[in-house]
Amino acid sequence: MAPSVAQIPDREQTASVVVPVKAVPESGETKPKIRRVIDEEPNTTASYPNYLPTWDHGEKYPPLQPYEHVEHGKGADPTFKDLLPEGSKIQKLTPTIGSEVHGVQLSKLSDAGKDQLALLVAQRKVVAFRDQDFADLPIKDALEIGGYFGRHHIHPTSGAPEGHPEVHIVYRNGSDGEVEAFFANRNSSVQWHSDVSYEQQPPGTTFLYVLDQPEVGGDTAFVNQVEAYNRLSPAIKERLHGLKATHSGVEQADFSKSRGGVVRREPVINEHPIVRTHPATGEKALYVNSGFTRSIVGLKKEESEALLAFLLNHISRGIDYQARIRWAPKTVVVWDNRVTAHSAIFDWTSGERRHLARIQPQAERPYETPYEVESK
Ligand SMILES: [Fe+2]
Repeated sequence: MAPSVAQIPDREQTASVVVPVKAVPESGETKPKIRRVIDEEPNTTASYPNYLPTWDHGEKYPPLQPYEHVEHGKGADPTFKDLLPEGSKIQKLTPTIGSEVHGVQLSKLSDAGKDQLALLVAQRKVVAFRDQDFADLPIKDALEIGGYFGRHHIHPTSGAPEGHPEVHIVYRNGSDGEVEAFFANRNSSVQWHSDVSYEQQPPGTTFLYVLDQPEVGGDTAFVNQVEAYNRLSPAIKERLHGLKATHSGVEQADFSKSRGGVVRREPVINEHPIVRTHPATGEKALYVNSGFTRSIVGLKKEESEALLAFLLNHISRGIDYQARIRWAPKTVVVWDNRVTAHSAIFDWTSGERRHLARIQPQAERPYETPYEVESK
């Protein structure tokens, strides 16, 4: 039986972010607490201690304001000559999603190369660049590269390197009992989601780079939401056009609060079209995800749950349009968050640290273009 939406336990924050401990103020203390992992691991063996997460309970931001996004992939040179020069190597991981690149240094790209990066990633959905110096740059330099693609998103609940709230940290240090606690109430770690899709302008071209990883395990899975749309019958496609779904950040904020974590910005709920058009490729993607999509606007409860459950199951079981990225030291993965969903995979029990940093510039407000009748 297909699970109802209410039963789907997927929540991004439970998979990828270390859970903050409850702040217990000392008697007479009035200063907001700052939790720093470095204080808990004074002799840390982390390769990049400057990237260890912190949570500042005094840090608050007002609601995000609209901003005009410039899509750099639009009109970029499709020969990719500035991105993939002679001597570099690109290889497809699967026919419709995922490529791996060797021989390119992302930090050295010209603006033309960056434009082509946005287009390549929109086309291939996710691209792994090996042997990068990204993690070794000063954090502000990494942010400057990411900031080319849009306004930095500051995550409402996740940990960040101190002084750099625009960087979202994914961290597991292999502490005792972590695996058992995680699986105490679930069978699988797979939690498909598109990052912060509850925002009015969710992120587009997204960078995730590894700082420490298990020797084996902790891969990230991606699903091609364009191909998920393409697989549907014309009748279902046509019906989905014009429908919107709600995406909610409330549960993520509540989860953080319940664990004594931070909520830097009040949570929001936004409605987005279920079929979204990509501004650079013109491709249509199924824009729902089990992490944040809650209901279909205008449908009754049972109808909304049944249709969403169908769509989310369709996405989650589509291993024929999914790719799995294996991390290696100095890997930077760039994906287009508008046309993919992803899931961390928590499958290692060796106690090794998994530490990654994410930079995610916001993109345009999701929009749809009319259904087009397909020729046979
Ligand atoms: Fe994520």
